[in-house]
Amino acid sequence: MRTKIIGTGSCLPQTVVTNDDLSKIMDTSDEWISSRTGIKERRLAKEETTATMSIEASRRAMENANVSAQEIDLIIVATVTSDHITPSTSCEIQAAIGADRAVAFDINAACSGFLFALSIADAYLKLGTFKTALILGAETLSRIMDWSDRSTCVLFGDGAGAAIVRADSAGLLAYDQGSAGARGMVLSCLNRRNNNPLVKNPTDIQYVHMDGQEVYKFAVTTVPVSIKKALDEAGVNIEDIDYFALHQANIRIIQAVAKRLKVPEDKFPISLDHCGNISAASVPILLDEMNRNGLLKPGMKIVLAGFGGGLTWGSAVIEW
Ligand code: COA
Repeated sequence: MRTKIIGTGSCLPQTVVTNDDLSKIMDTSDEWISSRTGIKERRLAKEETTATMSIEASRRAMENANVSAQEIDLIIVATVTSDHITPSTSCEIQAAIGADRAVAFDINAACSGFLFALSIADAYLKLGTFKTALILGAETLSRIMDWSDRSTCVLFGDGAGAAIVRADSAGLLAYDQGSAGARGMVLSCLNRRNNNPLVKNPTDIQYVHMDGQEVYKFAVTTVPVSIKKALDEAGVNIEDIDYFALHQANIRIIQAVAKRLKVPEDKFPISLDHCGNISAASVPILLDEMNRNGLLKPGMKIVLAGFGGGLTWGSAVIEW
């Protein structure tokens, strides 16, 4: 039995914010952002929330997979920006789509979250506990950015991506995952206030803080090794991979990973130019764009890879 992605969906906020738009509210430029990151524009949520975008992405994935709400046994949302601590985004989706039979919970593995959600769903499906799962990566990162820190806030965007997975004869061939908590503070968001009356809170609330160069080094060294491990586990040669759908953090990271793997860059589809980095949502949104643009054909072999906060990383080899 294998866990197969049978449908995808995504949802981006309405509001497009270009690099030029950002240059009107902070000291930056299209030239600086484009040349260092490949990002041209991103969508930022105004009316939309993590839940509303997730619900729309879920509906689109269900339609794409031709799966009804009653068929869904499991809903997992990977996010660091759920609208509330509880109810979880997954429970809000369950209520909105009417998936009454489903078990629903959120997970936090930052930008690797969708890969981790896929591996959890795979474990449940392999055990035979569940047959059909709805998995998402969804973020409203604009809520947790430090908009006075130009080196970080220009990189991120908002959106949600969803996939329906089901037990099948083909699908997920192998995966590799890892975490390095000891290096976690190079990408942090410490904005939770303590409401205990015995504890004094810090006066300033902290939002996303990143040591960009350390994160860059982590990504370009860890991701190629992880992808190779997943390929070895799957028994698949790198030359036989049709596409590498990587977390969309930075074009330079993707180019460096392609170089280290000795794979042509045109096998690495890109959405970061119009989405920016949407953490857990990057990989499923990219996959949905590939699916809807007709890039994916049955039998193709694809590598998915996520990496980021925690630190965490995950790679998967799938047969479409
Ligand atoms: N616009 C204009 N100038 C900016 C700027 C911006 N948005 N952000 C930073 N700068 C300036 C800095 O102040 C610095 O100026 P100085 O030399 O006068 O001090 C200069 O640009 C270089 O800053 P630096 O931080 O050294 O740039 P960099 O070459 O390391 O690039 C990143 C910064 C963030 C693009 C790069 O480190 C990176 O891509 N890291 C990976 C981040 C990532 O992908 N994180 C998510 C992983 S999930």
